[in-house]
Amino acid sequence: MVSNAFFLGKGGVGKTTVSAAFALSLARTGRKVLIASLDPAHNLGDVLEAQLTDKPRRVEDNLDALEVDLGAWVDRYLKESKDELKSTYSYNLALNLDSFFDIMKYSPGTEEYAVLWAIEHIRCELAGGYDIVVFDTPPTALSLRFLAMPAISTRWVAELTKLRERILTRRQTITRINPSSPVASSCTDKDSDAVYGKLGSIKGRLAGLQSLFSEESYVAVVVNQDVLSISEARRIADELDRIDVPLNAICVNKRGLTEAPWNLDPRLKSSKRFEFDFLRGGLAARDDLRSLDNPGLVADFMAAASKGRA
Ligand SMILES: Nc1ncnc2c1ncn2[C@@H]1O[C@H](COP(=O)(O)OP(=O)(O)OP(=O)(O)O)[C@@H](O)[C@H]1O
Ligand SMILES: [Mg+2]
Repeated sequence: MVSNAFFLGKGGVGKTTVSAAFALSLARTGRKVLIASLDPAHNLGDVLEAQLTDKPRRVEDNLDALEVDLGAWVDRYLKESKDELKSTYSYNLALNLDSFFDIMKYSPGTEEYAVLWAIEHIRCELAGGYDIVVFDTPPTALSLRFLAMPAISTRWVAELTKLRERILTRRQTITRINPSSPVASSCTDKDSDAVYGKLGSIKGRLAGLQSLFSEESYVAVVVNQDVLSISEARRIADELDRIDVPLNAICVNKRGLTEAPWNLDPRLKSSKRFEFDFLRGGLAARDDLRSLDNPGLVADFMAAASKGRA
């Protein structure tokens, strides 16, 4: 059942603006809404005229907002991994874990995992208090990587699980042949093996996130009337297809900003389209977002949200 919304798109097209306007519209119809910024360079607080932190803060009736502290999630993720490694391999710690984890902090993938665990935290700990969670997303490259992460990591975890099963089977064989072997004192069955258990729990967490993205989310791509944002939207659409995440809508923002002729890529024409005028007076205050109210988008989201409820 859909209860989350993601707005993706090229830098500067208006993801934060459109997602904030959408969250406000929903809140003003009486739904309890949480809007969460996943962008490492937050500006959701500026748009909503509120001082935001990584905890939900009331913006107005029915609307809370937060800005995820990605740096803190990276540190938390690395600390948890380090503690787990220390307890699982307490018998064999020749490796200097501290310097290893110092490198991990900057290694590819770490930030994507941090975003994933932040989303999981919102889903498991916070979403229960709301009808809808709206995500203001980071730049396209990071967004596509974290959206793809559950599918990619699930394959990787499946391979590691097979490898672990082979190790356990070999341990059983050795123990049978030579009960006095040092291997006999190590774990030989899946039920009591900490590593096997850990792989199972990661698999479950990834499945939860994949289902959040592919079954519980309404995904919109924001474009402007320009070639570059439309080309990027096309690439996003292709990638969403590849990772089994639906594309629900195209939001054409800043309509009327340019007189130049423009065309939506044919690939994007099959999606529902919602338009938002360019506000010549700018967006200085939260109430200016009212001018970007889009009842069609809200109705389409609510239709998706009510599917499967019957
Ligand atoms: N419909 C609109 N009319 C007028 N100005 C707009 C509109 N939508 C967005 N803007 C302005 O465009 C700029 C970029 O908007 P916004 O920050 O929402 O984009 P973004 O896609 O979230 O950017 P980033 O990729 O940096 O996160 C802001 O100055 C915002 O006020
Ligand atoms: Mg933004």
